[in-house]
Amino acid sequence: MNSVPFIPETAPFTAEQRAWLNGFLAGLFSQVPPEQIQSSQTNGAQKSGEPLLVLFGSQTGTAEVLAKKFAKEAQQRGFAPSVLALNDYENANLAAVDKAVIISSTWGDGDPPDNAANFWNWLNSDAAPRLENLHFAVLGLGDKNYSDFCGASKKFDSRLEVLGAKRFASRGECDADYEAPAKAWMDGLWEKLGQSATSSQLSVVVTNGHHPVATDYKLPAADKSNPFPARLLKNVLLNRPGSSKEVRHYEISLDGSGLTYEPGDALGVMPVNCPELVEEIIAALKCNPTDNVAVSDSTLPLREALLRHLDITKPSQEFFATVANAAPSSGLAELLALEKRDELRQWLYGRGVVDLLLLLAEPPPAADFVRLMKKLMPRLYSVSSSPNAHPGEVHLTVSAVRYESFGRGRKGVASTFLADRVGEAEFLKVFIQPSHGFKLPPSGETPMIMIGPGTGIAPFRAFLEEREVAGAKGKNWLFFGDQCRAADFLYEEQLTAWQKSGLLTRLDLAFSRDQAEKIYVQHRMLENAGELWSWLEAGAHFYVCGDASRMAKDVDDALHKIIETTGGKSADDAKTYVAKMKSDKRYQRDVY
Ligand SMILES: Cc1cc2nc3c(=O)[nH]c(=O)nc-3n(C[C@H](O)[C@H](O)[C@H](O)COP(=O)(O)OP(=O)(O)OC[C@H]3O[C@@H](n4cnc5c(N)ncnc54)[C@H](O)[C@@H]3O)c2cc1C
Ligand SMILES: Cc1cc2nc3c(=O)[nH]c(=O)nc-3n(C[C@H](O)[C@H](O)[C@H](O)COP(=O)(O)O)c2cc1C
Repeated sequence: MNSVPFIPETAPFTAEQRAWLNGFLAGLFSQVPPEQIQSSQTNGAQKSGEPLLVLFGSQTGTAEVLAKKFAKEAQQRGFAPSVLALNDYENANLAAVDKAVIISSTWGDGDPPDNAANFWNWLNSDAAPRLENLHFAVLGLGDKNYSDFCGASKKFDSRLEVLGAKRFASRGECDADYEAPAKAWMDGLWEKLGQSATSSQLSVVVTNGHHPVATDYKLPAADKSNPFPARLLKNVLLNRPGSSKEVRHYEISLDGSGLTYEPGDALGVMPVNCPELVEEIIAALKCNPTDNVAVSDSTLPLREALLRHLDITKPSQEFFATVANAAPSSGLAELLALEKRDELRQWLYGRGVVDLLLLLAEPPPAADFVRLMKKLMPRLYSVSSSPNAHPGEVHLTVSAVRYESFGRGRKGVASTFLADRVGEAEFLKVFIQPSHGFKLPPSGETPMIMIGPGTGIAPFRAFLEEREVAGAKGKNWLFFGDQCRAADFLYEEQLTAWQKSGLLTRLDLAFSRDQAEKIYVQHRMLENAGELWSWLEAGAHFYVCGDASRMAKDVDDALHKIIETTGGKSADDAKTYVAKMKSDKRYQRDVY
């Protein structure tokens, strides 16, 4: 096998240094002796060394893992695949590429993920070149609960066409249950790429020298489709009496799992539904809970299907449509029109499967009902521990979702599963979701600014524990906030001890309800604009974790403002400064 050495993202280089080194290595190793190409062809590879560019846009790693799996198969089929994040578009040199596959999720409100944001700004600008040589196919990952489903992939797909590139396969779309549709879409590409549908087992890597090959990756020991049954060791309430929040600290044993993680990664938790809700649905269905029903490829008792396999809280579009049509007096059928999408969303807010089921005079047969339910999906949680500080364990910091709506108490599936339904010493199924886009700086000397209000503190506890264990000398500045200092100062003892020991160079706190006017982390940033700017100029990495809907945007606005006012830059130059921070991986976000 002839593969090109590749500088990984974790190596202690800047993005530019890495790109240069990778280009240099690719060029050096591309001078493959002709007899080696010959021998790979005679080994039966169908496409010996044909370059195939695989680009991903991914916030939490799902699209990235798919891109790497796809590239691995391409490699086995004899292509010379290269895998790059979309923001590495300069290195990819799209104008000179023949075939590219793009796999991207969508974040925010129809936006590209952070590691594709610069790519989109470039692609959508006048600076983008004509791409007549390019043949492309785009796969979108998304979630139908968001109004702009797979929005980023739609933008990429149509803009590439405008720039003259040719689509060799139609755009694919995957909802939260993405595995099977993603696989079907990817399997369908081989024929279009001039390959038979069956996979070649041959492993050949020949580069054409122009892209780095990065298919040499390991798949995790346990993953989403094969989660590990881990033991819950501790469940501790972090808020004090008087709080309106319920944030809990969990310690989970990974003993025997073979799972490893790094600070910045997330833990996937497979929840089990609330048994009382299951019983209520069984009663409404007027069914025998032990009767078998078909779910995916298996047959299992109804109660078991409702407990562990089906999403019985958020209604699918199909279930809503079935109820709307079967209950004409509800007037819901008119919400099915495309232009009523926002009204439908409003109607559904705070309502669930059970509310719809109770609108029916006659419940559907259990077999039909389960067909209309979506699959129960895992939830991700940012790990809040360093594996070096707590060997064999992973810690989480989770806010329990509980609210009242339409006269009924409601519970978030996974957060209350963790809080109420997994006892200490009991098991829960987990997997690690590696996040390549949210990592400690490669050097322990690099200063870090961390904005982590509420449960956003989680990855920063992990970062700081890791730096403490490693004896890293870099300066650390944490902004934390919540409602009230007396009740909501999560991890107060640990954070104040770190402040005393000097691990935390600065700790700035924003408790919104401790004074008449609301104070949030972005206000503390602005109050400290001078020092924050000098940290940025000294090369600090800037991290944000927590609420995506408001906090992340307010913090981003404050960052731009500081760069403009204290850094003395125009609004456009501040945008360029921030874009450069992103492409240098100095501005990283883990927001949800
Ligand atoms: C990468 C990543 C990292 C994350 N890290 C963390 C973390 O460290 N800690 C953490 O706590 N969470 C974290 N989350 C969020 C977490 O994954 C779950 O989304 C969260 O715990 C809720 O899941 P649930 O199953 O309990 O609730 P669900 O059953 O999914 O219910 C949540 C839904 O309930 C509805 N809802 C909530 N409140 C109301 C209300 N008042 N009125 C009407 N409807 C309402 C909303 O539609 C909401 O989407 C992270 C998410 C991601 C993607
Ligand atoms: C805060 C947040 C915002 C999201 N916004 C959208 C959206 O606007 N449209 C969409 O289709 N999916 C949206 N999603 C769903 C993600 O695209 C989906 O979970 C995807 O599988 C994540 O892939 P990744 O891990 O590669 O980033 C959002 C998810 C989160 C947590």
